[in-house]
Amino acid sequence: MTHILVVDGTGRGHAICDLFLRTDPDVTVYYGPGTDALDGHGRIVPVPGIRFDDPDTALAFLAEHPVEFVFVSNIDALSAGYADVLAAAGHQVIGPSAQAARLEASKERGKRFCEDHGLPTARYGAFTDPGAAKAYIRALPYACVVKTDGLTPDGDGAVVCDTAVEATAAVDAFAAAQGERFQVVVEERLYGREISVFALLDGEDYLLFPTALDFKRTLEGDAGKNCDGMGSIAPHPQASPALLEQLRRDLVEPLVAGLRDEGLAYTGFVYIGAMLTAAGLRVIEINTRFGDSEAEAVLPGVHSDFTELCRAVLRKDLGNSLLVTDALVRCSVALTQGCLDPADPGAAPGWPFGAFATGGQVLGLTQFPLDRTRLFYANLRAGAEGQPVTSGGRVLHVVGSGTTLAEARAQAYRRIGAISFPGMRHRADIGAALERSSEPAWSVLEAAPGQAPQPLAPAVAVVPTGR
Ligand code: AMP
Ligand code: GLY
Repeated sequence: MTHILVVDGTGRGHAICDLFLRTDPDVTVYYGPGTDALDGHGRIVPVPGIRFDDPDTALAFLAEHPVEFVFVSNIDALSAGYADVLAAAGHQVIGPSAQAARLEASKERGKRFCEDHGLPTARYGAFTDPGAAKAYIRALPYACVVKTDGLTPDGDGAVVCDTAVEATAAVDAFAAAQGERFQVVVEERLYGREISVFALLDGEDYLLFPTALDFKRTLEGDAGKNCDGMGSIAPHPQASPALLEQLRRDLVEPLVAGLRDEGLAYTGFVYIGAMLTAAGLRVIEINTRFGDSEAEAVLPGVHSDFTELCRAVLRKDLGNSLLVTDALVRCSVALTQGCLDPADPGAAPGWPFGAFATGGQVLGLTQFPLDRTRLFYANLRAGAEGQPVTSGGRVLHVVGSGTTLAEARAQAYRRIGAISFPGMRHRADIGAALERSSEPAWSVLEAAPGQAPQPLAPAVAVVPTGR
């Protein structure tokens, strides 16, 4: 029996644990801190004592519970130096160093990396002075996005603006919140559909994973604010072989070469958030872990033995590995805890819908007859009697699968109909516009105002996998 440790505590973490269990019958996964709601779920063993901000908590656990390797997939843990500290203590560990994790943890660092290594990205300026940022914005002949430089707990650090007035207001809001630590990037606003691009890296080589389309806005019709993501579909509807080749050539290969040139220690997943614009591909962000809620839609379709892939990463031998995936479409929907009564003494400040109370009982999680859905637990905990209760913004992710997007959506939403908790909110339109459109939505790129839309190569039903 193999034992490994996964360091995470999100729906993505659960999907990674599930990937190990599903593809390797011999593995037991310690999941730290994980969630105690998964206690007794087969071979996942939550380790609540592990803390993202303190790698020593993992070292203490590992001293008593030896594992073959540790898989770190949470940005807070990576930023706290988990990969460095565990490796220095002699553990086999998959995850980028804290220095490499700066590519995600600092917007300016990520942008500079793109420019230095030829990854196409939007024009930008970086500022530590609000007045200078506002002067730059007023002089821009195009719309922009204002981003706070560092990590934000709820993915609400980017304000996409139509006008200079909105953008300068965003600068003022960040300045008020950050005071002395004010640091923003002001970036040209891009128009088009986003695509989430994933690869597993061994430090020298890489393996492409299927793409996804993430729905980041809180409200239906892509209204509301950016958050970590309200749902995803995978594969991305525009993922034609030609596009995948372009993603590999223009984004992933320069990224891997750049990591090598800078001597950054990097193993594990990378997630490039990009935009398909009328002028071509543009990188929006580099993230040093898998996307959440994309992991929930992508990873259930992976059938390669993931423990073996990780061993190949540790041997730096990924170049000889193949990724086997199925040809199903998946639709993942986040069930989030909406604003209850902010005056409630139990209410916590949060996102995506403001203050929420914790501890609401979650009903309807037991096996649903005749369905092809999966549930991934995020801010879901075991209550006093072991019953599942809510503990935060995104509570769980419901994933439907099918041979078409329509089937996948129907599966997911049917399952959601049986689940309830106080203040439950979700977007009812994840993937809906793509399903409804009479002409395949992927056949045309959205264009910037005043420009003609560009046709694209048609997508294929089967995602080509691996290299
Ligand atoms: P980020 O904070 O860089 O992860 O951006 C969060 C989200 O804001 C992205 O996923 C996009 O939806 C949006 N966004 C970021 N940068 C841009 C941009 N330059 N143009 C348009 N939308 C953007
Ligand atoms: N789905 C967006 C993220 O993981 O940052």
